[in-house]
Amino acid sequence: METCNEALPDLSGRTALVTGASDGVGLHVALALAGAGAHVLMPVRNRDKGERAAARIREAVPGAQLSLRDLATRMARPAWGDLQLERRYRPLTAYARSKVALGLFGTELARRSAGRGRRLRVVQCHPGVVPDTGIAAAVRERASDTGRGSLARRLGNSPAQAARTALAALTADVPAGSYFAPAGALQFGGPPRLVRPPRSITDPVAARRMWDVADVLLSRVPLVERG
Ligand SMILES: NC(=O)c1ccc[n+]([C@@H]2O[C@H](COP(=O)([O-])OP(=O)(O)OC[C@H]3O[C@@H](n4cnc5c(N)ncnc54)[C@H](OP(=O)(O)O)[C@@H]3O)[C@@H](O)[C@H]2O)c1
Repeated sequence: METCNEALPDLSGRTALVTGASDGVGLHVALALAGAGAHVLMPVRNRDKGERAAARIREAVPGAQLSLRDLATRMARPAWGDLQLERRYRPLTAYARSKVALGLFGTELARRSAGRGRRLRVVQCHPGVVPDTGIAAAVRERASDTGRGSLARRLGNSPAQAARTALAALTADVPAGSYFAPAGALQFGGPPRLVRPPRSITDPVAARRMWDVADVLLSRVPLVERG
């Protein structure tokens, strides 16, 4: 299994929760964190696939501390407008909007936790373009622009390389609100570097509104742990 070779500090005694750890970028983030000694929690939706991912990590990092969890969540209805494209669902638009929503949530979380003495530091990142993953294949199937696809292959990151922006965000000594992206052309690939966060996620009014929506939605989401 390819590794990202990111130099990480000793993370023994630390716990990391990695979502999407059963595949792609998340699997490589989990692998690197386990290699640095962290206890890695892997909430997965498919237990068998999660077990296979954990086995791959254990093979590369004998003695890795991993905890697999099955989590089933059900989304509630949106609180305003057509935030979740219920009137006319377009997969790529939904995908892009979900990223903006997550970024705005992070921006507001950073604002709320700043200066309150909380041991919480929000640092965001994006992994570049990673052509060899399940999500990328699904996006390619729907996107008509094939030129972008070949550009992604030339300039993009492998899943292991892409894990580096998340690992930098997790371990670098940078202020809250920092944002990591790949250093290469169009931010498609390359090693992580600090960049200005995209404007779409830094609008404070939109960030507060997104927080309020998330607050309502999350209060209705039943979290069911199985197994
Ligand atoms: N690939 C790119 O070019 C690219 C670019 C920018 C950002 N990203 C972001 O990077 C993250 C990882 O993507 P990837 O490219 O590594 O994709 P991937 O290889 O397809 O991995 C996606 C991971 O997310 C899990 N997942 C997907 N839908 C889920 C759901 N509804 N509930 C719970 N878990 C779910 C998958 O679980 P299963 O194993 O059960 O399927 C898998 O572990 C995503 O947030 C993606 O949007 C990717």
